[in-house]
Amino acid sequence: MRSFGIGLLGLGTVGRGVYRVLQENGEIIASRLGARLEVVKILVRDPKKDRGLAVPPELLTTDPQEVISHPAVDIVVEVMGGVEPARRYVLQALEQGKMVVTANKDLLALHGRELFDVASAARTDLFFEASVAGGIPIIKILKESLAANRIREIIGIINGTTNYILTRMSEEGLDFALALSEAQKHGYAEADPRADIEGLDAARKIAILASIAFNSRVTFPEVYAEGISRIEPADIKYARELGYTIKLLALARETEKGLEVRVHPALVSFKHPLASVRDVFNAVFVRGDAVGETMFYGRGAGELPTASAVVGDIMTAARQLLHGVKGMWGCTCFEQKPLVPVEETESC
Ligand code: NAP
Ligand code: HSE
Repeated sequence: MRSFGIGLLGLGTVGRGVYRVLQENGEIIASRLGARLEVVKILVRDPKKDRGLAVPPELLTTDPQEVISHPAVDIVVEVMGGVEPARRYVLQALEQGKMVVTANKDLLALHGRELFDVASAARTDLFFEASVAGGIPIIKILKESLAANRIREIIGIINGTTNYILTRMSEEGLDFALALSEAQKHGYAEADPRADIEGLDAARKIAILASIAFNSRVTFPEVYAEGISRIEPADIKYARELGYTIKLLALARETEKGLEVRVHPALVSFKHPLASVRDVFNAVFVRGDAVGETMFYGRGAGELPTASAVVGDIMTAARQLLHGVKGMWGCTCFEQKPLVPVEETESC
């Protein structure tokens, strides 16, 4: 049976999950794929760190080139986070014609265009399922299953940390800071949790979804973002008394004036399906002209749900290598559409 080499950039929450899934589900993955996936090298900052995982020490390195340029690495998996040096490493891997899988929404929402152009020129591919909504396969849904639709609207809860905090505050009266520190302990929060609580992480994700759904290029700085840091227990209590819960919503829709893309807290009626999305769960509501209303639900963050998306992408990349069809995603043509200033947008 053929074997493909995997190079991991990062072995934190997501990287550990990817390593675990590849080891623990190796047999079922090989039987579905018809090929084995073997981790060849892993980039970390500190090789001596206790990771609660039995990784052969010779796999770990602090030299990125030992991963990116390793002759046995066919697929580079970027799960280190941040913009630099991740951008540089991903570009190097793509320029060498390697397949790349990333979970990094910060990178995609700022430099997606550059990365996809380089991938296309090198006739290779960049996969990013885990960058939005953790274990929910929303990228594949938009790119493949709903590709025949004119997408009208996407409304989602796409940040697990803030949904976890709001749930704990609302249901148990937990203090904001304590709820955030628990989200961090679970590995849900970003390295800098301000990205979660100020709505920036959700803004990056909705920029990625809007780019796919509306065949345009929406970047993170263009998205209006307001987070939950100013929400107080009293707001949650009054909302509840009126029959509402508070959720951090991300919204993207195409109107006659252009694209509306924004993130902000919103009152959601307890009767609405999004109100029942609790804890670290995410949900994405998509309305297309042919399919009508659809909704997708699942864990939006955490080690194994995110690893499920990353390893699914690794398998797609490996399948393309196996069948010699590398670079098949590089042909999408985008049409730049204007964004409507938030003051001129319609309410939800
Ligand atoms: P993390 O726990 O902070 O892990 C980052 C890993 O990358 C660590 O192993 C770290 O090494 C390594 N690393 C970071 N910078 C490095 C550098 N300059 N050189 C060498 N190694 C470096 O992060 P994470 O939560 O796994 O998130 C990774 C990515 O996935 C991010 O883009 C994040 O936004 C995205 N994501 C996360 C989740 C989630 O639930 N956590 C879900 C979806 C997407 P050391 O361990 O030695 O420090
Ligand atoms: N910090 C992110 C969240 C991780 O809480 O949703 C998943 O992208």
